[in-house]
Amino acid sequence: MYKIAVIPGDGTGPEVTVEAVKVLKAAADKFGFKVDLTEFDFGGERYKKTGETLPDSGVQELRKFDAILLGAIGHPDVKPGILEKGILLKARFELDQYINLRPVKLYPGVPCPLKDKGPEDIDFVVVRENTGGLYTGTGGFTMKDTPHEVAVQSAVYTRHMVDRCLKYAFEYARKYGKKARGKGKNNTLALCGKTNVLTYVYDLWERAFNEMGESEYADIVREYYHVDATCMWMVKNPEWFDVIVTGNMFGDIITDLGAMVQGGMGIAAGGNINPEGVSMFEPIGGSAPKYTGKGIINPLAAICAAQMMLETLGEDAAAAKVEDAVKYVTGEKLESMQAGKMGYSTSEVGDLVAEKVAE
Ligand code: IPM
Ligand code: MN
Repeated sequence: MYKIAVIPGDGTGPEVTVEAVKVLKAAADKFGFKVDLTEFDFGGERYKKTGETLPDSGVQELRKFDAILLGAIGHPDVKPGILEKGILLKARFELDQYINLRPVKLYPGVPCPLKDKGPEDIDFVVVRENTGGLYTGTGGFTMKDTPHEVAVQSAVYTRHMVDRCLKYAFEYARKYGKKARGKGKNNTLALCGKTNVLTYVYDLWERAFNEMGESEYADIVREYYHVDATCMWMVKNPEWFDVIVTGNMFGDIITDLGAMVQGGMGIAAGGNINPEGVSMFEPIGGSAPKYTGKGIINPLAAICAAQMMLETLGEDAAAAKVEDAVKYVTGEKLESMQAGKMGYSTSEVGDLVAEKVAE
């Protein structure tokens, strides 16, 4: 029995969450476990009514669950930053979800913007550090609103933060790298940094990466790429990548590129993971206000988020089955990944995946 907190959130979040839950329940029935779901109304509407984003009492509540499924956060009537910081980033920081795991996987039948690249070429994972770097909010203004105003925002990393992220990435590469999955000769971990300019922060990352790799993960091939070059190779030779580990800001940026390379926001999912605590899974596409309530948004990203949740909970067989069902639906059924062009409604896509899982 898993206790799952569900935060449908804003915009199309509730519509896609319903479909993810549908698939979760189908997997539970099929594989003999139970899910006990509790819904929370954190999001733009609640904020408009009460002025509350994610209160401390809400964080305390969330700590009691085995995992969290999040739909989307972002409301057209609320100034950008309030809900993102108050809900999403607050949950990540308070629950110490120090890993943001973002698979970049092109499924069969999904149109890819890269010429001559197919599912065998686009199959890697980004391990983004999720609580440090530029996101700590360290910095401030001096002489604000004068012509000499100074703004400083620091990328903060401690050795401890870097080490725990690297450890997760090395372990992940060992368990799910290309060799482990029978897809290549080696399990490879690439550090994505900027050692030629950010000579403190990424020097720390690089030293920690090499020390840990040499002493504990000699079986894993280590590579290094600057972040700008990473973007270039993600487009030109995505097949080079296996597992990439990087800091928070670079990870934010390269995973949006990754989402496009894998076929767009309709399919891209991520996990905010605390390996020792409560993790939170989300489609990364946002609340898509213009599609809200129409039943045309693609729920596959939310379903893939639920799939990642199953994997993290240790339900590997169920997770594999959901992934196969998604591949079947993208490969055999959907006409497009785009909202309104799928050839099916949101709930029909959920049905297709759930039925395949139940088979
Ligand atoms: C993401 C988002 C968030 C981030 C925003 C909404 C705060 O872009 O999950 O990648 O920057 O981490
Ligand atoms: Mn982002």
